[in-house]
Amino acid sequence: MTTLTTAPLAPLLNRLFEEADAASPANDPALADLLPDHDRLMRSKTEYRDFYAHLKDFPLSVSRETGTLLYMLARGAKARAIVEFGTSFGISTLHLAAALRDNGGGRLITSEFEPSKIARARENLTVAGLIDLVEIREGDALQTLSAGLPETIDLLLLDGAKALYPDILDLVESRLRPGAFIVADNAEYSPDYLARVRAPETGYLSTPFAENVELSMRIG
Ligand SMILES: C[S@@+](CC[C@H](N)C(=O)[O-])C[C@H]1O[C@@H](n2cnc3c(N)ncnc32)[C@H](O)[C@@H]1O
Repeated sequence: MTTLTTAPLAPLLNRLFEEADAASPANDPALADLLPDHDRLMRSKTEYRDFYAHLKDFPLSVSRETGTLLYMLARGAKARAIVEFGTSFGISTLHLAAALRDNGGGRLITSEFEPSKIARARENLTVAGLIDLVEIREGDALQTLSAGLPETIDLLLLDGAKALYPDILDLVESRLRPGAFIVADNAEYSPDYLARVRAPETGYLSTPFAENVELSMRIG
């Protein structure tokens, strides 16, 4: 039995994924104006705050498969310290925190700038009985993840503004232990990030994995 597959978390995740499936920004008439610019906005380093403000009512979560992968990687790595860029409603956070619980405890630092999303994530983590493992840092992750990180980090999830993936990696890289995993969702929107983790001399092994996920391991 695991925290992931039993109550209260399992039924909560079922409900949250069902709600996420039903709430696609692509079908929302209020967001139709954004659609022609979607690709550019996903890659933008200057317009991400406004872009995500438009999307504040959408979970934009990792897939069920990626959620399970996150739990498995964190368990397999015996992770005790995890950093997440992009909390949203906390669906990925719930998987990672469940792994920490089943590893015997630890610390998960996650970052989000939309206050209403932080409130929802906090509520979900409380219902799941996992809030004690999670510190939600409110504000732009470029600032909130720039200090006060654990000495050693076992797993990094990149799932905020795609253009910032290299910048967030800069903040965390020196603390990633050899063998640490980095999971980057929708990394195809961040070609600079992909070029970096796929270049052998930069200290990573990296491979595309499942749909839209880049899975990397720190080896340097
Ligand atoms: C794709 S969603 C994250 C989904 C979440 N990881 C999950 O699976 O449930 C991206 C989130 O990152 C947040 N975000 C984007 N750029 C950010 C930044 N620079 N700092 C803090 N939060 C950011 C957005 O508001 C949005 O909620």
